[in-house]
Amino acid sequence: MCKSVCVIGGGACGLATVRAFLEEGGFEKVVGFEQRPSFGGIWNYNELADQNLSIPSVDPLAVVNPIKTENGYVWPNAVYDALETNTPYPLMEFRDYKFPESTPLFPHRSVVLDYISRYGEDLRQHYRFNTRIVEVRRGQKWIVRSRTVCDATAGGFKESDSVPDTVEEYDAVMVATGVYDLPLIPELKGLRQWHEKFPNTILHSKTFRSPRELAGLEGNILVIGNSASGIDICYQFARYTGRNIYKSARSASRVPGGTSDLVIEMPDISHLDPETASVFFVDGRRLENVGCIIFATGFLRSLPFFAEINRSEKPLITDGSRIHGLYRHCWSYEHPGLAFIAISRYVLPFHVAEIQGIWLAKILQGKIFLPSFAEMASQERQLLGLRGNLPAFHDLLYPDDIEYMDLLMKDIRMASDNGPLPKEWTELEIALRKNTKLLKARCLQHFERTGQHLTLREALSLNIIDTGQ
Ligand SMILES: Cc1cc2nc3c(=O)[nH]c(=O)nc-3n(C[C@H](O)[C@H](O)[C@H](O)COP(=O)(O)OP(=O)(O)OC[C@H]3O[C@@H](n4cnc5c(N)ncnc54)[C@H](O)[C@@H]3O)c2cc1C
Ligand SMILES: NC(=O)c1ccc[n+]([C@@H]2O[C@H](COP(=O)([O-])OP(=O)(O)OC[C@H]3O[C@@H](n4cnc5c(N)ncnc54)[C@H](OP(=O)(O)O)[C@@H]3O)[C@@H](O)[C@H]2O)c1
Repeated sequence: MCKSVCVIGGGACGLATVRAFLEEGGFEKVVGFEQRPSFGGIWNYNELADQNLSIPSVDPLAVVNPIKTENGYVWPNAVYDALETNTPYPLMEFRDYKFPESTPLFPHRSVVLDYISRYGEDLRQHYRFNTRIVEVRRGQKWIVRSRTVCDATAGGFKESDSVPDTVEEYDAVMVATGVYDLPLIPELKGLRQWHEKFPNTILHSKTFRSPRELAGLEGNILVIGNSASGIDICYQFARYTGRNIYKSARSASRVPGGTSDLVIEMPDISHLDPETASVFFVDGRRLENVGCIIFATGFLRSLPFFAEINRSEKPLITDGSRIHGLYRHCWSYEHPGLAFIAISRYVLPFHVAEIQGIWLAKILQGKIFLPSFAEMASQERQLLGLRGNLPAFHDLLYPDDIEYMDLLMKDIRMASDNGPLPKEWTELEIALRKNTKLLKARCLQHFERTGQHLTLREALSLNIIDTGQ
């Protein structure tokens, strides 16, 4: 029976996992680890951006170093200054934890950080802050090595005699370290030569802080990528500067976001030509006088603390496109006792983490029974056949995410004991989920017209969605 559980990460999803394990009960030890000094994960905005971009950035084993400041160590992250959610806040609510009613339907990042911090308040005692997990490997149990983040350890990156590492054993390790940390900058023809000739003209969405920084740039600005980051960076730039911006889209967008006539859509890139400062596209067109290229091309999956497993015959990470050997994008059937929380794109991460946490706690308490190894492996192979070894492997685009959550809910209900149950979808939440794109567009238009954000009540009074009420 599983007695001790280590949860890595004090972002929203790590917190939901710790709560699920505590509520399930039956575990003697549940310990959360967070390298930052506080909860909130990616929502901890800092104006300092990652300065050590590798160009290209395709190595999933690369590590993201913190920045040393007068006030301690800062982990640069992808959340930028003016970021507002692209999810209506009721869909980001944990069971029994509400955002204040006056919250704008798509709140500013700071509101989300407050919300997560409040949610985590009673879980603080279960966490070790400023503590970085540096290694997880298999012994009799899971051997977890953690290190204090301080000067002696260079922010948790160097072993120190004066502040020695802690090594402990756990029956299970739940990984909730987020999936948007290590930038992916694909190897494009001409990119390395461009970077050599024009250093500092290549950015990644993770290093974008504000359109103000781009406003004075000379030459054309090209954003590559047509998902949430690409769309919002273009929208913010266009609104703030009134200048044109070019966006290369190799596929249609699946996410909500603002639009502007100043954003000029281009196709996929063919190559970069530093000699003429031009970018060529697959349809033969060319953009001249390019002064800055922003890669909004997403992130690599990276699990640096599993170095030993990743070198083994059953690696979790190979090229950074996906995590290998998972059942239902969560449970490692190759390495039982390991699980990964909220790794799929396009889901509602808070809600998914809450359900996965309960599902995992019940598996580890022997209340939910997993299929055979052969069945779990066969399901993964089938998905691989359908999707390929690509970043889209773990995607759960609506309504796939709802179906996925229903599958876990079914297992949880069948376990039919008195343990915790995830929140059920309400009619309103389903309507918000279905209509998120439309709602986001309307809220942005309203803000452009009036300078005011719409609350949930105000948005509903516009009768743009049918809530079935
Ligand atoms: C720019 C951007 C905007 C987004 N907007 C939305 C949105 O509007 N709505 C929405 O629902 N979702 C949004 N998301 C998705 C977002 O990732 C989730 O909302 C959520 O914050 C994920 O939480 P998490 O706990 O999985 O990961 P994170 O928030 O990344 O937290 C992971 C934590 O693990 C810690 N950690 C990592 N490695 C270690 C280690 N080795 N040892 C100890 N601690 C470690 C990190 O310090 C971090 O605190 C956005 C993501 C990005 C990048
Ligand atoms: N709240 C907000 O407004 C907001 C803002 C920014 C980000 N976010 C969140 O942040 C997370 C990450 O979003 P993201 O947009 O950074 O990453 P993402 O969703 O992974 O999207 C990556 C984009 O880059 C494209 N791409 C990848 N490799 C490419 C290549 N080699 N050449 C050309 N294009 C390539 C992808 O195209 P394909 O789809 O064709 O692969 C996709 O359009 C998401 O959860 C998102 O919701 C939210």
